[in-house]
Amino acid sequence: MNFQKNLIHHQDCIEAIAGLPDQSVDLVLADPPYNLGKGNAWKWDNSAPLPGMGGNWNKAMEAWDDMPLFDYFKFTLLWLSQVKRVTKPTGSMWICGTYHNIGIINFTLQLLEIEIVNEVVWFKRNSFPNLSGRRLTASHETLLWAHSGKKRKYHFDYEKSKRITAPWDMLKMDGKQMRTVWDIPNNKAREELSHGRHPTQKPVRLFSRIIDICGKPQGLMLAPFAGSGTECVAAWRAGMSYIGFETDPAFVNMANQRLDAEKNGLNLTLPADATETEDHEDRAIDV
Ligand SMILES: C[S@@+](CC[C@H](N)C(=O)[O-])C[C@H]1O[C@@H](n2cnc3c(N)ncnc32)[C@H](O)[C@@H]1O
Repeated sequence: MNFQKNLIHHQDCIEAIAGLPDQSVDLVLADPPYNLGKGNAWKWDNSAPLPGMGGNWNKAMEAWDDMPLFDYFKFTLLWLSQVKRVTKPTGSMWICGTYHNIGIINFTLQLLEIEIVNEVVWFKRNSFPNLSGRRLTASHETLLWAHSGKKRKYHFDYEKSKRITAPWDMLKMDGKQMRTVWDIPNNKAREELSHGRHPTQKPVRLFSRIIDICGKPQGLMLAPFAGSGTECVAAWRAGMSYIGFETDPAFVNMANQRLDAEKNGLNLTLPADATETEDHEDRAIDV
């Protein structure tokens, strides 16, 4: 099966990646379902009042985010097996999660003999407060950086990782080694939301940092769970090609429109701090 590059395809990623050649991808940015959407028919669009939560509240209730645990493990095993096969020995795989799913991802990586290079904590200092008062405020997500080459041939721009700084990152000092805790506020620039919203959309600057240290200009980035297209936007901005897969046709359209605007120079990048926080994961685990 051949997939056109620089497009997000309406495809199940497990079937679709099976059609890609061995060792054809330089970087995988995988933001899979976290398996958070448990329970009932709450909506994420702020339209459903939830008693006891002080007004309208929301939670992702998407079929794609709600699997029995063992099914989630089988699903993880299937997509990660395919991702391992298509990633070059010089390539890297980055997988996002929270405590709900990251243990399963970690276990599956080890089962598949995919080496974990680092566990990165994405610190979200502007995470949504805990309303129940029965938990600490969830303010981080976890990213696993992994590779499957035999001799740690994965591309890592160490010098660049030392040079990177950002005004909003209080933990990264110019010229110093990059640590495994990244202080990246979860705000999105206005243009990141201007083509529609996705309940678990990540900020572009999170993936841009990964691409800065692990991406290869002119290389190919694979986004198995493309959502609103954030991973692909970051890849495109860095001069990489991309292939994305997404099962929800509405998100496929939204993401491809977003990328078209990006390619046509229509996405004016505005300061991220000018916008509201869209932090669905925090809200979902608050209850
Ligand atoms: C966590 S979201 C990704 C969000 C994305 N990082 C962004 O910033 O917009 C996961 C996405 O995977 C999609 N998805 C779920 N199962 C899938 C599958 N088997 N193949 C492809 N996409 C899938 C969902 O529809 C959802 O949009």
